[in-house]
Amino acid sequence: MNVLLVLVLLALCRPVQGTWDNCGASCGLRPLAHRYGASRVVGGTDAQPGAWPWMVSIQIVWEGGVVQHICGGSLISAQWVLTAAHCFLENRPELLWRVVIGANRLSQMGPEVQVRHIQRLLIHEHYNNISQLNDIALLELDHPVQCSYYVQLACVPDASLRVSELKNCYVSGWGATNARSSRRPDVLQEAPVHLLNTHLCNSSRWYAGAIHSNNLCAGYAYGIIDTCQGDSGGPLVCKDTTADYFWLVGVTSWGKGCARAKQPGVYTSTQHFYDWILVQMGLRPAATATPTQHVPFTYAPSQTPRPIPTQSSQFDSCPFPRPKLVEFFTRVQELLQALRGKNV
Ligand code: ARG
Repeated sequence: MNVLLVLVLLALCRPVQGTWDNCGASCGLRPLAHRYGASRVVGGTDAQPGAWPWMVSIQIVWEGGVVQHICGGSLISAQWVLTAAHCFLENRPELLWRVVIGANRLSQMGPEVQVRHIQRLLIHEHYNNISQLNDIALLELDHPVQCSYYVQLACVPDASLRVSELKNCYVSGWGATNARSSRRPDVLQEAPVHLLNTHLCNSSRWYAGAIHSNNLCAGYAYGIIDTCQGDSGGPLVCKDTTADYFWLVGVTSWGKGCARAKQPGVYTSTQHFYDWILVQMGLRPAATATPTQHVPFTYAPSQTPRPIPTQSSQFDSCPFPRPKLVEFFTRVQELLQALRGKNV
C-alpha cells in the first residue's frame, strides 16, 4: 500500500521536475534563496546572485558599445517582461535596446545571464505621462528565455489576492543609491519595504491626492529606504502569507525625490492590470476596442512569425495555486529523499 502511494506521488512529482527548464510551470520561486538568509535602491544592500530571478535590466547599447541601464523589469513568462510605460517616454525604437536576464553584477555577466532583444513594446493605452496613471508596459522578447536557478518567472496576482495583508515585501534594482548622485550601482540592490496604507499615502502631508486606486505606496514613513531613478519598471514583490513564493504586486513608477520622509515610492499595482496583461499577451480576447500603442522596434524583425501562445506555455503557467502545488510536491520529494536516505 505504502509503495503504491509513493509511486503515485513520484509520478505526480515528475512533471514538476521534468519541466524545470521552462520554470516547471511555476512562478515566484527563488531556487538559490536557501544559500542566504531571508533578506540599493537607496538604503539597500547588494543582492546575492540569483536572489531575484525574475529581475531584468532594460538597456540601450550606444554606438561604440557603451551600455546604459535604463529601467528594471520583471519576467512574467518565458517571452514577456512587465515594466513601466514611462521608461519609454522618449520611446526611441531606432536605438539598440536589449534586455538582460539573470544578472547580478552588470559589468560581469557570466554564463547564467541571458540577453534578448525587444520584439514588441506594448505601452498601456491610457498611460498618462503627467499623472503617471497606468504606468505599465509589456515587452515581448525576440526569443523565449530558458529558466534556470538564475532565471525564474514572477507571479502576477489577479484581483482576488489580498495584497494589503502581505508582509514580507522587497524592492530591487540597479537604480541610484543616492538621490543626489547619478552614480549607479554595478551589483543589483535589494531592500525590504512595507506596504503603506493608500489613504495615509494620499493624505495632505504625504502625496495629497496624487495616489490613484491603481497605485501602491511602499517604503517607510521616515524615508531612508526607497527605490530611486533607474529602478523604475522593476519589481515590488511580497512573499505569500503561507508559502515560500513571491507575488509581483507592484511595478516601480515614481516618487518625490528618493527616500524622503512621507514621500515613499509609488508603484503600479499589478493586480489591477491582470486582465490587461492577459489581453496583451494574446491569452484573452479584448473586451474594448481601444488598441494599445504598439511600438515596432527596428531591431526586432517585425515580420517574424509569432508562436501562438498555448495554455501550457504562457502566463497561465503562473497561476494560483500552482506555486502551492509545486511547494507541496517539493516538500514531498524532500521527505521521500530523506526517507530513502535513512534506508541506505
Ligand atoms: N521614476 C523613477 C525611474 O524612472 C523611479 C523613481 C522612484 N522614486 C521613488 N522615490 N521611489 O527610475
